[in-house]
Amino acid sequence: SFRIAVFASGSGSNFQAIIDHIQEKKLDLSIELLVCDKPGAKVIERAEIANIPVFAFRPKEYVSREAYEQEIVKELQKKQIDLIVLAGYMRLVTDTLVKPYYGKMINIHPSLLPSFPGLDAIGQAYEYGVKVTGVTVHFVDNGMDTGPIINQESVIIEESDTLEQLENNIHKVEHRIYSEVIDWIAEGRVQLQDRKVNVLPQKVN
Ligand code: GAR
Repeated sequence: SFRIAVFASGSGSNFQAIIDHIQEKKLDLSIELLVCDKPGAKVIERAEIANIPVFAFRPKEYVSREAYEQEIVKELQKKQIDLIVLAGYMRLVTDTLVKPYYGKMINIHPSLLPSFPGLDAIGQAYEYGVKVTGVTVHFVDNGMDTGPIINQESVIIEESDTLEQLENNIHKVEHRIYSEVIDWIAEGRVQLQDRKVNVLPQKVN
């Protein structure tokens, strides 16, 4: 089966959506590891409930980013991970992770990139006053939210929307499209050439 590691720092609603998706659809995918840089985060409880092994660490206890990323790479190799899924992992990743996993590591970001990269993208878009924002799923490179784009979906901001309503609308889209992209990749349908991503049509028998 196709083996996934999820990296997360916070509440883990995207992590949960992926767990639920795999269970409902009885897919040949398994989440073999949660990597978390915040030992108190709610996402860890979700992993424990779902019986998913956790590698939790405190970045400050390492001499460098490279040092903890090397530990992570060891864990990923032990578990023979096919795909890394960043789901609210609020840290930049460096070449230590990007080199061995380029094309095998994806991220979800709550805006239409390249607009509003970085922290609090939903708030940034709301404050800016854009009428359309959305969600982006992309391969990870060593920039901040800069890698090749796999899929995007727009979300309209209505004049009556509060920030909280917009957040809800964005999260609903995230929870649906992240699992979709993971399915495409597990089915071998996503091709990456330079910055261009090509999604092959579903096979019909
Ligand atoms: C999600 O909205 C995700 O797109 C965002 O963090 C949230 C995590 O929520 N990620 C970023 O902003 C990355 N730059 P969750 O912990 O409930 O899945």
